[in-house]
Amino acid sequence: MLEAKDIREITDNNAELAAVLKLGEAIDIKEFSEEKRKIKIALLSSESGKEHLIHYMIGKENITIKSFPASRDSLSEILKFYPDILIVDTDTVSDALLKNLLYNLHLAYDYTPIILAGRNKQRLYHFWQYGVFDIIDLNLQDKKADNIIDTAIRLKNTLTVNFEENMLDYLARISDAKSIEDVGHSKRVAIYALNLARASGINDEQFLRNLYLGAKYHDIGKIAIPESITRKRGALYKNEYEIVKRHTIIGYYIVTHYGMLSEEVGEIVKHHHEWFNGTGYPDELKGNEIPLGARIVAIADAFDAITSTRPYREKKTFDYAINELLKFKGIQFDPDLVDNFVRLITMS
Ligand SMILES: [Fe+2]
Ligand SMILES: [Fe+2]
Repeated sequence: MLEAKDIREITDNNAELAAVLKLGEAIDIKEFSEEKRKIKIALLSSESGKEHLIHYMIGKENITIKSFPASRDSLSEILKFYPDILIVDTDTVSDALLKNLLYNLHLAYDYTPIILAGRNKQRLYHFWQYGVFDIIDLNLQDKKADNIIDTAIRLKNTLTVNFEENMLDYLARISDAKSIEDVGHSKRVAIYALNLARASGINDEQFLRNLYLGAKYHDIGKIAIPESITRKRGALYKNEYEIVKRHTIIGYYIVTHYGMLSEEVGEIVKHHHEWFNGTGYPDELKGNEIPLGARIVAIADAFDAITSTRPYREKKTFDYAINELLKFKGIQFDPDLVDNFVRLITMS
């Protein structure tokens, strides 16, 4: 085994190797340090002392809770803290700050369950678009709160990425950037998909992990589609549409290449454009023939596409998107899943 001084000698004369070893060091530290195993909760609140409430609720020793004041400067501080979970005391935070924070956290991290604490549910409904994990009341009477935080911790552990997925993350971002979708699209679809699965009573961790990955990489195959087509603003010609359709199969090959990700993840990517009535692509699968994960992603994908701004149109409202899903219930989308999704986002 090489001693530290040997490595220094070798790397002194080889800048590239030094960089690689440095990267290796960084990965080692991230993966194996004690620090990483401790769950870190960031709490955004203008009132001090609320972290004690959370400690009391979950009562676990391996949890670090750090409070951040409700100000714009807190965002960079929170990012530096690298939290596993973010709890926002919404009663003390302005709408503008909350939006800014939620949007940036989703872009910056792989997966950070965000729990909103507050009493005004009508107000919190508007933040659902940012993929909140759940809503709690930060007082001792809320019996559900400790359960929710516990579930968030378990999900976070399940979804922690490995090196291969980090590489695919880069590809997915490039693919989003190449098309008319904005860079956050795939990530938001993944969060909606997870929330829909949970709202449908699915708790199987392996399933949730596959779903998360399949959703995050659903459009990764667009990396191979010319930008003249993926960025086209008007309607596509028939031959262009045929080329776009290939992104499902190309995506399947990218994520399952050399067994990088499982067949289950590949199937979600491949079938996210199938229609429930059997008129979708690439295989014209019908109803339950379509993998459950792909049926979930189809809804999450449509919802995000409708509620996001595109270069040629403004985003539509939640209500408009809900109506679209209901209109295509049983045609394009799984009817039961549409019902669950609508219930979830209207919090009814
Ligand atoms: Fe797609
Ligand atoms: Fe998409």
